Amino acid sequence: MDKFIIRGSKKLNGIIPIGGAKNASLALMPATLLASGKYELLNTPNLRDVTTMIKLLSSMGVSFEQKDSTLHVNTFRVNKFEAPYEHVKKMRASIYVLGPLIARYGNAKVSLPGGCAWGPRPVNLHIEALKKLGASIEVERGYINAKAKRLKGAKINFDISSVGATGNTLMAAVLAKGSSKIENAAIEPEITNLVEMLISMGAKINGIGTTILEVEGVDELHPISISTIPDRIEAGTMLIAGAMCGGKITITNCEPKHITSVLLKLKEAGAKIKISGSSVTISAPKIIKSVDVTTEVYPGFPTDMQAQWISLMSVAKGISKITDTVYYDRFSHVPELQRLGANISLSENIATVKGSNKLAGAKVMSTDLRASAALILAGLAAKGETEVLRVYHLDRGYESIEKKLQAAGANITRASAEEF
Ligand code: UD1
Repeated sequence: MDKFIIRGSKKLNGIIPIGGAKNASLALMPATLLASGKYELLNTPNLRDVTTMIKLLSSMGVSFEQKDSTLHVNTFRVNKFEAPYEHVKKMRASIYVLGPLIARYGNAKVSLPGGCAWGPRPVNLHIEALKKLGASIEVERGYINAKAKRLKGAKINFDISSVGATGNTLMAAVLAKGSSKIENAAIEPEITNLVEMLISMGAKINGIGTTILEVEGVDELHPISISTIPDRIEAGTMLIAGAMCGGKITITNCEPKHITSVLLKLKEAGAKIKISGSSVTISAPKIIKSVDVTTEVYPGFPTDMQAQWISLMSVAKGISKITDTVYYDRFSHVPELQRLGANISLSENIATVKGSNKLAGAKVMSTDLRASAALILAGLAAKGETEVLRVYHLDRGYESIEKKLQAAGANITRASAEEF
């Protein structure tokens, strides 16, 4: 098991390229189940979650070839319609195979994802929507068993905006007979990337980028080549690294409009931001101002940036409140940040952070993907040496983070670790 050793308080200066979006790739890859043939998924990041999805789809008969950041996918020989527990327990996004399998093959058996490090994460919305489209679904012994002759178009109104449920429902509705209307659909850029892919495969979808998606089902789709959007969470994380560590960094290959909410908050915190095409340059402020943040669905401030923002606020001047309205329990990074000297108190879904410039290196443990990113950021800003254990969480969603940070002057190295 790997760990990171960080010798903090080094200024960051340089250029950091942003990779393809994990959460987009995890939707685009299962969408290839919707039509037989050869696909090219460009700008696919090389991440552990992508490898998990490759293993899951391979177990169903899909074959892959990865050349640099292009993932070649061949779905000619799909012959198994099951997502077993061993894959799903590693990655919740495995649930994305449910919609395509039931729509194309009329048959799916998918393990229930269960909870995660930050509490229960149900899939009731996915199941209810697929039932509305005519699937017969039973949940027994930890598995979702779904069957359908051919799905039928329906009206689906989500009472909660859900990225995963929107993606799954869309992938099912595109091959259903007749028209569907998805109301309160998620408008996260990763969903828009999926809609673009489905449209180029021959799906008929209106309302791209809006909360109402109208789908006219078609009999057949065809394979395509598509580019994955840049990862807005990696982009935001690197910009916070720039803000926390002094100096000036430029992130490239990103989509600035996807990170507007984060850029506005960074400006409020005193950072200078310059956007030029697909690059964003951040000049760190001398003094970071405290700025409150409340997570919201897109285009609001992302819950996937909440932990990193708490790290930034730990070295700000003054007191800030960070509220997570998407996941109430997503605060496992707080006790670990406290080990580094951060002054954070937690009451339900609100973290109150009293900033100081006194973070000091310590041994800390990653508990989930974004919590790990928060610990790295705090370690980069802290005086002395920080060891971040269990970085396999981080490898799920950040490609070569240590190399990218090293190139900007950070002193961070990967080493193998004995468990705590
Ligand atoms: C996706 C992202 C994840 C991000 C989250 C919120 C992927 C692979 N993951 O997760 O990184 O943190 O969006 O932006 O894209 N809910 C239900 N029932 C359901 C489904 C969801 O109650 O059936 C609730 C959840 O508990 C949560 C809210 O809806 O409170 C939003 O979750 P959702 O958008 O579904 O998250 P994911 O798609 O799992």
